[in-house]
Amino acid sequence: MTDAAQAAPARTARKRTVLMCRPDYFTVSYRINPWMHPEDPTDTSLAVQQWEALYATYRELGFEIHLIEPIPGLPDMVYAANGGFVIDNVAYGARFTYPERQPEGPAYMNWFRDAGFDVREPEQINEGEGDFLLVAGVILAGTGFRTSSSSHSELARIYGREVVSLNLINPSFYHLDTAVAVLDDDNIAYLPSAFDGESLAKLRHIFPDAVLVTEEDAAVLGLNSFSDGFNVVIASRAKGFERQLRERGYNPMGVDLSELLLGGGGVKCCTLELRR
Ligand code: ARG
Repeated sequence: MTDAAQAAPARTARKRTVLMCRPDYFTVSYRINPWMHPEDPTDTSLAVQQWEALYATYRELGFEIHLIEPIPGLPDMVYAANGGFVIDNVAYGARFTYPERQPEGPAYMNWFRDAGFDVREPEQINEGEGDFLLVAGVILAGTGFRTSSSSHSELARIYGREVVSLNLINPSFYHLDTAVAVLDDDNIAYLPSAFDGESLAKLRHIFPDAVLVTEEDAAVLGLNSFSDGFNVVIASRAKGFERQLRERGYNPMGVDLSELLLGGGGVKCCTLELRR
């Protein structure tokens, strides 16, 4: 047994309930992040095929998967993480930064309402679980490119939980879930250079044992992953991150979402966790 294997603690998987949206109308027709190039072609059927592989992986893991009907003309709706934030049956709705995505806010809120969630209409700009992550009993909340810092106080008021504000500084990692991966109830992986000094100090303090990923792995949106506490669904191209996860006793499972990467999103972006 290697030292790493000896040191790796046993991990426990907890089955998750998630909301997803089939990319039936996926394309890149506008540019609201540096990954998007509307002049380049996209292949919607390939996007659907790759998304279905992610769906099948979640089925294999025993997840309860809910689907929201995609709407023509909303090509980014596949990135369900941005549709809201849900804890304790309370769904805090999204209010998007860019007009291109604004109609998604009410569409997701209608879905939450129909599914029996207690919906809170947002007053402040926020892009849901793209910028809010629940871990270690607190909500990590990103700001800098999309979600406004005033939404962080709205969030704290609604959930009565501590909210830790983090400033994102690299436009390629414009949502918190592109720079931080929640691995289990207590730990995360992150890209240090995506944050300013003050935010880094907070992360180091709360997560002294975090996995630090390389620029190379982050550049294929490796951090944009979804974990059940043991199985971590990641971009198959994030080889270094895959190794780090294995050393820590997690089970990385690679999927290829290259087509959805053209819109600036990966595994986590396509996944909104529903916590009843
Ligand atoms: N094209 C989308 C946007 O820029 C991608 C969203 C990615 N979602 C995420 N949770 N990081 O808004």
